[in-house]
Amino acid sequence: MATPHGSLAINVLKGALVKVLGFPTGRSTIGVKHSEGNKVRLTVKTNLESKPNDSLMLKVIEVANAQFRAALPVQFFNVPRDEAEKAYGECMYDKFEVPAEIQTLTVLYIDGLNLNCVRPEAEYPSNTSAVSEIQLKKIKFQTSKKQLEVQVIFVPNSGASVPVVKALQAATENTAAKPSAEAIAPLVTGTGMQGVDDAPPAPSASNDGGGKKQVVTPWVVQSDDGVDYNKLIKDYGSQPISDELIQRMEKIIGQPAHPWIKRGIYFSHRDLNNMLDMYEKGIKFYLYTGRGPSSEALHLGHLLPFMFTKWLQDVFNCPLVIQLTDDEKFLWKDLALEECHRLGYENTKDIIAMGFDIKKTFIFSDLDYIQHLYPTVLEIQKRVTFNQARGIFGFTDSDNIGKQAFPAMQAAPSFSKAFKIPLKGLKNMPCLIPCAIDQDPYFRMTRDVAPRMKLHKPALIHCKFFPALQGQNTKMSASAQNTAVYCTDTDKQIKKKINKHAFSGGQETLELQRELGANLDVDIPYQWLRFFLMDDDRLEEIATKYSSGEMLTGEVKKELIGVLQKLVKNHQEKRAAVTDEMVKEFMRVRELEWED
Ligand code: TRP
Repeated sequence: MATPHGSLAINVLKGALVKVLGFPTGRSTIGVKHSEGNKVRLTVKTNLESKPNDSLMLKVIEVANAQFRAALPVQFFNVPRDEAEKAYGECMYDKFEVPAEIQTLTVLYIDGLNLNCVRPEAEYPSNTSAVSEIQLKKIKFQTSKKQLEVQVIFVPNSGASVPVVKALQAATENTAAKPSAEAIAPLVTGTGMQGVDDAPPAPSASNDGGGKKQVVTPWVVQSDDGVDYNKLIKDYGSQPISDELIQRMEKIIGQPAHPWIKRGIYFSHRDLNNMLDMYEKGIKFYLYTGRGPSSEALHLGHLLPFMFTKWLQDVFNCPLVIQLTDDEKFLWKDLALEECHRLGYENTKDIIAMGFDIKKTFIFSDLDYIQHLYPTVLEIQKRVTFNQARGIFGFTDSDNIGKQAFPAMQAAPSFSKAFKIPLKGLKNMPCLIPCAIDQDPYFRMTRDVAPRMKLHKPALIHCKFFPALQGQNTKMSASAQNTAVYCTDTDKQIKKKINKHAFSGGQETLELQRELGANLDVDIPYQWLRFFLMDDDRLEEIATKYSSGEMLTGEVKKELIGVLQKLVKNHQEKRAAVTDEMVKEFMRVRELEWED
């Protein structure tokens, strides 16, 4: 027997499933069952190839529970059927047909979460806070039909006295404006942003024919067995870096491309061809990259983008701006504002140690530079709706409003007018952004607003994640000591970490290794050498010998240890030579110097 609270729980659960798993809301509800003891069951048709894993389902429940906590109004509208279909497509329908003679639909609407046709006599609480939470009981997945059955228990909120309303009556009395087609758009495709030229919806979690689930956002990187980068290119709508593009680049710069480009570590781009077109015509671009200062000690993964940016600055001989998002880390982490600011200064020393040209490089903290950035930030903020931001970044109603406003801060440096002094007042200088692929959502948003601001879209070149010592599954974390090698580690620590913690793709025994060889794809010593051993011939030799069993894991580890000790020592020396005066000068708002 359906109860108002149970019906609400089902509606919120449906919205959360759509949001997290990313299937269209329309026509996907197959069945609903209410049982004793506040138990409800929802069966939906998904586009998943396999059963969603636990962490994804926990995310669904978390998103649903955030909606209850957010105390959103549950609204009802009577909408003429043709008008509804025109504005919302099939979004409000369940699997079963609404009989043709029904010409006016009664729809339930929870902002940003669900739009659903309901029976006129159905009863619902008028606010999501009537339920305090749902708890996951069990799930079943039918692979052949892609059907997911989710059973949850809902807990009514005894503290809230939320009136229960009848759908038709509430709709008749409702004087509020109907939700716009734009507001509904993210629901139609699951998550997503409408009107982005080069990006299909940006799923915070997605699944496709590969049957692999992965979550890649600026804050979470998670996947079952290694990130599927081809899938990311497809999901994000970026371009793979082709051999032609590499050859073209080499011709223009008159030297070989960086080994990381040739090895597919920098693997994806947006509009790099355009950037090269302009460069050939003598129109210079500037480079923009950044760092979120959340820890004192950087690990090797943090250095990569800067090492690469340094190469770009050298070969294209162009100005560079580096953003320290102390504001971002304050909003996301449990850190004091002063601490984030200080960490930015500390990290700047590591960045300077990469060897950037002081005349061509401006490093800034958001906190310090905000007055210069703010006009551009405002221009961007005005052009991105809450719904769009939520679609791109997966914000929920319980995220603080600082987070929701932040993306414009990271977007603004993509436009040269945010650097009136450093970039000599050039209003529309093209911009190239080297970054890890997880930062792409910011720049999809940026590229969407650029034409409306009558400015060039920034171009991008994306790199893969640097794998953790324990294996490919996630990027390294600054907080998990033994997953990473730090720029501050001693020779001894490096040796110990690699020998003890680096995941090996070699075989269990010497005999087996000699016979079968190592699996290079999962072998961390080899994968790390792909990043840090610049000698192509030696890398090739190791690949051949190690995969055929001629080399053993211990030997490859030894080679890696040597490479890393040298790299880290070199970094430590360079960093020690960075003075406070140099930091000040890099961060001074001043005109950069470069040759056109
Ligand atoms: N958000 C990034 C981080 O947390 C920092 C950043 C700011 C950045 N602007 C950028 C990274 C531009 C790449 C490109 O690390």
